[in-house]
Amino acid sequence: MTHTTIVSLDSTFIHAGPIVLVNGEHPVIAPPLASSLIPVASVPSASAEERQPLLERTCLRQLEAWLAASGASGSIGIVSGYRTREQQQQIYERSLAENGFAFTSSYVALPNRSEHQTGLAVDLSELADNVDYIRPSLPDHGVFAAFKRMAASFGFIQRYKEGFESMTGIACEPWHYRYVGAPHSLIMERHNWCLEQYIAVMRRFTADNPYEHWSDGTLTAEVYYAKASETPETTIPIGNAISRHEWSGNNSDGFIVTVWRGQEQMLS
Ligand code: DAL
Ligand code: ZN
Repeated sequence: MTHTTIVSLDSTFIHAGPIVLVNGEHPVIAPPLASSLIPVASVPSASAEERQPLLERTCLRQLEAWLAASGASGSIGIVSGYRTREQQQQIYERSLAENGFAFTSSYVALPNRSEHQTGLAVDLSELADNVDYIRPSLPDHGVFAAFKRMAASFGFIQRYKEGFESMTGIACEPWHYRYVGAPHSLIMERHNWCLEQYIAVMRRFTADNPYEHWSDGTLTAEVYYAKASETPETTIPIGNAISRHEWSGNNSDGFIVTVWRGQEQMLS
């Protein structure tokens, strides 16, 4: 690829964007801007604890589209969306008192280690009475199964899957979805990679040797890693002026860049 366009990114952006990795080793460094958090009006709340959930703007828009497309709009509610550090601390301490350490460390992230603090994570439940706030139920049958199957197409991943506990640090949570955006969600689904693996794999790909995402035999996107420079600004090559590009910090030391190709540029 010939790189005729360069973008310059402030180093604070390492901690922003849809693919930031938040886990026990990678704390939340930059809480989302208040202006990016939107009160959810279109999806019912399923828990008494969060009657007025907030979600990051694109995450909410894509969740609405996903619910509508799968026919699950009237069947699924939000149990938990954006949380402040203080809210995460309260949830952690309450669970510790009620459920003990083994349960809590499996199902509740430490304060500042929860991706709910990014606004990009959402806990979803079957709409029912007495929904469990920490471990709600999102079943595997009927409309719920149809909904789950479409997650990646709308940019979502089941963040904590069975078999990935040693990497994520969290037990299987079928109710916790994380918005990362396409093509990242589609690539993770194709290879069955968790976010920790995806971030690690992408480090091997550069602007000159990108990961190629193919869909229906067509190259639709190229993804690569750009390490942040020591200076306050990092310059990133992104191809030519007509290619649509996106970037996200990895929340550690650099950026994941996506360059869209051809007609699939409409998918985001
Ligand atoms: N339940 C997830 C791990 C959280 O507390 O962020
Ligand atoms: Zn959650």
